[in-house]
Amino acid sequence: MARDTDRDHYIINGGRPLTGEVTIGGAKNAALAIIAASIMTDETVTIENVPDVRDTNVMLEAMEGIGVKISRLDRHTIEINGSRVENVNIDTENIRKIRASYYLLGALLGKYCHAEVPLPGGCDIGSRPIDQHVKGFRALGAKVNIERGIMKASADKLSAAHIYMDVVTVGATINVMMASVMADGKTIIENAAKEPHIVDVANFLNSMGANIKGAGTDVIRIKGVDRLHACTYSVIPDQIEAGTFMFAAAITGGNILVKNVIPKHLESISAKLEEIGCHVEEFDDAVRVSSFGRLQPTHIKTLPYPGYPTDMQPQAGVALALADGVSTITESIFENRFRYVDELTRMGAAIRVEGNTAIIDGVQHFTGAHVQAPDLRAGAALVLAALSADGTTTMDDIHFIERGYEDFDEKLRSLGGDIRKTDNIRQESRKSKFKVV
Ligand code: EPZ
Repeated sequence: MARDTDRDHYIINGGRPLTGEVTIGGAKNAALAIIAASIMTDETVTIENVPDVRDTNVMLEAMEGIGVKISRLDRHTIEINGSRVENVNIDTENIRKIRASYYLLGALLGKYCHAEVPLPGGCDIGSRPIDQHVKGFRALGAKVNIERGIMKASADKLSAAHIYMDVVTVGATINVMMASVMADGKTIIENAAKEPHIVDVANFLNSMGANIKGAGTDVIRIKGVDRLHACTYSVIPDQIEAGTFMFAAAITGGNILVKNVIPKHLESISAKLEEIGCHVEEFDDAVRVSSFGRLQPTHIKTLPYPGYPTDMQPQAGVALALADGVSTITESIFENRFRYVDELTRMGAAIRVEGNTAIIDGVQHFTGAHVQAPDLRAGAALVLAALSADGTTTMDDIHFIERGYEDFDEKLRSLGGDIRKTDNIRQESRKSKFKVV
C-alpha cells in the first residue's frame, strides 16, 4: 500500500548558495504522451529515461487497469505491451488527477477507433479546455461527446483531415497527431505547437513506423500507416527541470553545472538568466549557471516555444522578486498562474498582480515562513525562494511538486541545500535548529 504522501512537508533552512552538479531526468511532458502512445502497437515497446514521478506512475497504473502489460526493467526503463487491452474505458480515481490522461484518448482512438476517458484533472493553473482536442478528433471522423465527466470518442474508421488549431496547444497537437497516425490518407495540422516534447513524441511514433513530418514547426504532416511496431526509445531531458535548477543558481547566488540537457531547448531560459545578470556557459550536453551580486530587473512574457515557457514563469517570478528594481511578468498562456505570489508575499516579496501581469518590486531578501505549494511549478519555485531566505520555511502540499520532479529534495541537498522531507511537522520542528515560523 503506497504511503499517503499528501501529508508530507518540507522543512528548509535558507541562506546558503547552491553549488555543484545536478543531472536532469527525462522530460515528464514527453514521457506521459510517449507512454500513452506505446499501446498503439500490439508489440512490446521499451522506453528509457522515463522520470519516476507521480504523473508518469499514475498514467502507468491506469494503463495496467485496462490490461496493458507493464514491466519496469529499472527505475527509468519500462517495457509496455498493449496487445491485451481489454476495454477502452479508463476510469480510475487516480487518472482523474492528471492532465495527461487525455493522451490515452488519442492513443486508444487512433488504435481501436473507440475510447472513453475521464475529463482531465491536473494543476489548477487556469481553465483547461479541451475543445481543440475534440475539434481534431471530429475532423478525423470520430463522434465525440462528454457524459458524466467522461469523454467518449468513436468512429467506424478515421480518415485524414486538414486541421487548423485555433489556439497553439501542446496537448491537442500531440493528441491529434497520435489519433491520425493510422488514419487513411494524409493529415495536416496547422498552427501546431512546437515544444521539444512534440518533436520527441513524433520521433517516438516514427520509430514505431509512423510517417510524421514537420514536428517542431507549425505545420505537421502525418501520412497514415497500416500498423505500428515495436521499438526502443529514450525520452529527451526535461527542459523545465533543467530550467528550475538553472534558476536555483540565480536565486541562491550559487554556481551549478546542470548536466544531461539539450542547450538548444533552454535558449529562452538562458537568455533571461543573462539579462538578469547571471553567467551562463553552454557545453554539448550541459549548462553552467553562476550568479554573483544582486540580480537585475527585466520584463518577461510567457509564450509558446521557442518563447519563454509558462512552466518557468514562477521560477522567474521568485528571481525577479529579489532583483534590484521593478520587473514585470505577463502570463499569456494560463489565467491562474500567479498563485505563488500570495505565498511569496508571506516571505517578504513585494508583488502586485493586475490581470495577467505581475509588477514585481525587488526586495533585498526573503524571510522563512510557513507556506503551501499551490501547484507543481509554483511549489518548486517557492522551494528555491526558501533556500535563499533568512531562516526556516515549512512547506505543505509538497505532493504537487512530486508530480513532476524526481528526488527534488535529494538533488537540492546534493547541491548544499538544507531541505528535509517530513510527515510530522511538529516533531521535526523541535529538531530543527531554527524555530518553525
Ligand atoms: C501542457 O499542458 C503541459 N502539460 C503543461 O505543463 C504546460 O504548461 C502546457 O502544455 C503549455 O506548455 C502536459 O504536457 C501534461 P496547452 P496542456 O494545451 O497541453 C488553451 C507542467 O507544469 N487550450 O498547450 O494542457 C489552454 O487553455 C504542466 O508540467 C484551449 O483553449 O497545455 C491554454 O491557454 C502545467 N483549448 C493554452 O491553450 C484546448 O483544447 C495552452 O494549453 C487546449 C488548450
